[in-house]
Amino acid sequence: MTFQTVGVVGIGQMGSGIAEAFARAGCQVVAREINDDLLERGKAYLQRSFARGVERGKLPQAEADAALGRISFTTQLTDFAHCDLVIEAATENMALKKTLFTELDVICKPEALLASNTSSLSITEIASATQRPDRVVGLHFFNPVPVMPLIEIVRGLLTSDETLDAVRALGQVLNKQLVFAKDNPGFIVNLLLVPYLFDAIRALENGVATKEDIDTGIKLGLNHPMGPLTLLDFVGLDTCLFIGDAMYGEFKDARYAAPPLLRRMVTAGLLGRKSGRGFYTY
Ligand code: 3HC
Repeated sequence: MTFQTVGVVGIGQMGSGIAEAFARAGCQVVAREINDDLLERGKAYLQRSFARGVERGKLPQAEADAALGRISFTTQLTDFAHCDLVIEAATENMALKKTLFTELDVICKPEALLASNTSSLSITEIASATQRPDRVVGLHFFNPVPVMPLIEIVRGLLTSDETLDAVRALGQVLNKQLVFAKDNPGFIVNLLLVPYLFDAIRALENGVATKEDIDTGIKLGLNHPMGPLTLLDFVGLDTCLFIGDAMYGEFKDARYAAPPLLRRMVTAGLLGRKSGRGFYTY
């Protein structure tokens, strides 16, 4: 199976990166948002990211223009009818995702694969909203998608071998490394990342060190590109809280219990970079 036309549902932070990665790989991309305002915001994300790629010398201007030209923008799910693969990158809300997958199942051609970029929800449950659970799979990308070289492929209980074989091709198409995980909360990366991020907040709550020193300690002591509190701001505190709550809900393991400070910051609208303030001010 080849992925000539790829649909992306939701072009926020992750979806716009996914659209960019496929367009840069030469695929036709259909990018959908729920209204014109969000579509314009998504277009602006894409334009900024392409411009950054050009500035950093990662791709020539002509290639960026051609890739952007391969993306068509829509508010209609019906425009996914001819897609070979549709990747959902909507809000992390199971009811919303199930409604979307039920609609996509009706709209998309029978052989199309349906994927979710969910970071914490069950692929098996999302697939249960369709008549094609064998052709539903998790494709978990990392932020910023055009730069991060990994995709986690998540196999739901009913995902078929044929579907897994088909998505294996994405490694070469997108020039990314693939890792395979079962449909376990947090898959591989968030299973290990969430307790680490939450421990950093607990260290701050307990007065172990300043936020700057916690971040510098990890950045320089472990050679990480970002310290944990900077990374929390980068991913979005609301997203991290959502992931933690979903994982705690399934495991009932204290390592995934959100620290009180995180919940209070989200309640106060301190969401990190996206809101202009989190642990740091932007
Ligand atoms: N297109 C192509 N390449 C680009 C680009 C673009 N739009 N923007 C940047 N790049 C390239 C740069 O040229 C550079 O490449 P080089 O090292 O070969 O020169 C590289 O990407 C790094 O970019 P920058 O120089 O702009 O920036 P930094 O060096 O400050 O790195 C960062 C930025 C990549 C975000 C780095 O800080 C990082 O890796 N941070 C950690 C990110 C992370 O952990 N992400 C995962 C979050 S968890 C997640 O997403 C899962 C979810 O479920 C929670």
